[in-house]
Amino acid sequence: GDDAVAPGSLRGRRVLVTAGGTREPLDPVRYLGNRSSGKQGIAVARAARDAGADVHLIVAHVETELPVGVEISHVSSAHELEAATLAAARRSDVVVMAAAVADYRPETVGEHKMKKSEDGTDPVLRLVRNPDILRGVVTQRDEQKLDQLVVGFAAETGDAEHSVLEFGRAKLRRKGCDLLVLNEVGTDKVFGRDDTEVVVLSAHSDEESGARGSKDEVARFIVRRIASEAGVGAD
Ligand code: CTP
Ligand code: CA
Repeated sequence: GDDAVAPGSLRGRRVLVTAGGTREPLDPVRYLGNRSSGKQGIAVARAARDAGADVHLIVAHVETELPVGVEISHVSSAHELEAATLAAARRSDVVVMAAAVADYRPETVGEHKMKKSEDGTDPVLRLVRNPDILRGVVTQRDEQKLDQLVVGFAAETGDAEHSVLEFGRAKLRRKGCDLLVLNEVGTDKVFGRDDTEVVVLSAHSDEESGARGSKDEVARFIVRRIASEAGVGAD
């Protein structure tokens, strides 16, 4: 139908997709996490596979079935995701950064399981910034002069002064990626649900395009946008 991906449109292309949410350890049994299910990223990996791409999927704690016919790596923290992503990106034609990366991690990780204090004082958690993996991919691409299409994701809410699209345009510029897949989130609007709505912003055009439907339908739309942006012909 209308939303199909041409079967050979990414034939021979190496597509790296990250999906899921990182966990930042506090001690051997505790972590800071997020509510990403990984469904959208995994749907993109599946759609890219169906378009003929050679797909490598890096997953962090996804809550959904993994696709067959793609190479899969498992990571947990943002640091592990960074190392795996930068290494795999060196041999990728397309990088799709769909993972929800924790912006911060605990400054120190307990070697042993933390105990409650005996004097009644409550602990204070100090956080430090995680690396920006998407920016790292873009920097590596530019430094190594790779011919690579880089796709970011952003879940935004507007505020009193700025629309979701304004935030999206600013983020696209800040990240330096080619495409930004934007969706508007309320707490239960996107996370874990199977229907979704996205707008794709391109660094190379003022026009935006959008799709709504199941995560598989939206994934096929994203893969079509990737195929046309990568100049390999969507049809
Ligand atoms: N991202 C990343 N590394 C990070 C944070 C985010 O690679 N440390 C990637 C995400 O995978 C996503 C894109 O950057 O593709 C946008 O994520 P988002 O959280 O919206 O961006 P931030 O720069 O963290 O901005 P914000 O302050 O709005 O969270
Ligand atoms: Ca963030």
